[in-house]
Amino acid sequence: MAKIVGGICTTHVPYIGRAIAKNLHQDPYWKPFFDGFPPIHAWLDKVKPDVAVVVYNDHGLNFFLDKMPTFSIGAAPEYHHADEGWGIPTTGSFMGDQDLSWHMIDSLIEDEFDLTTCQEMLVDHAFTIPIDLLLPNRQAGSIRTVPVCQNTVQFPLPSAKRCLAFGRAIRKAIESWDSDARVVVLGTGGLSHQLDGERAGFINKTFDLEFMDKLVTDPDWVSQYSIPDIVELTGTQGVELLNWVTCRGALGDKVGVVHRNYHIPISNTAAGTLAMESL
Ligand code: DHB
Ligand code: FE
Repeated sequence: MAKIVGGICTTHVPYIGRAIAKNLHQDPYWKPFFDGFPPIHAWLDKVKPDVAVVVYNDHGLNFFLDKMPTFSIGAAPEYHHADEGWGIPTTGSFMGDQDLSWHMIDSLIEDEFDLTTCQEMLVDHAFTIPIDLLLPNRQAGSIRTVPVCQNTVQFPLPSAKRCLAFGRAIRKAIESWDSDARVVVLGTGGLSHQLDGERAGFINKTFDLEFMDKLVTDPDWVSQYSIPDIVELTGTQGVELLNWVTCRGALGDKVGVVHRNYHIPISNTAAGTLAMESL
């Protein structure tokens, strides 16, 4: 059966795409952020995942306000990068893994997560930036992917409790896939940020750091917060941390920290990175 090697949660700010394209890793603004990745690259070199299941939120590219699935999944042979307008350089297409996609769809719907199945899907910065950060120099082309989208954009959003349960069902699905593949789960977005309105620029370091601690030791902790609580605590886009919650649910009860990093700001965002190994 397939094995989940671990999970990596990281921000997906589109501005990072420009920094990668311009090779700004040593630039004083960027260095504290990019320095969070070499220990994770070393771990990935060791665990050698074949497939990445990427939990993220679509930013209007596939789903707009008129049609908004709560949970959706790609089942395509490949995913074309078509970012939604920040002008970041679009990278090549990403390989799919239709066998895993369809196995996950069967298993998740059996487990009463009635997600939307997408046989064509475009991917935006929330999918591409984390992969390009984790697998630099276009190694991204060498890993198969399954995109899993959660609605963190338009109310009502799924609760943290629901996302954790979704992640646990994703774990069950992957671990029952008849394959010798090694799977890494990614959760993208966050941490605290708000891009618009009166609180634009809002960041909450105290909450973010506690969230990162608890995600490792006690993932159910976050379930005490309602969606309005999370928006209040982390900003209107900080609620993207739901993608981290789902990723964590897929890693099982006990995880070890491979590496973590937290840097304020990248663009308008508190840039957290947390790599965990399933124990
Ligand atoms: C920014 C953050 C995001 O999560 C996003 O999707 C777009 C932009 C930002 O901080 O610039
Ligand atoms: Fe975002």
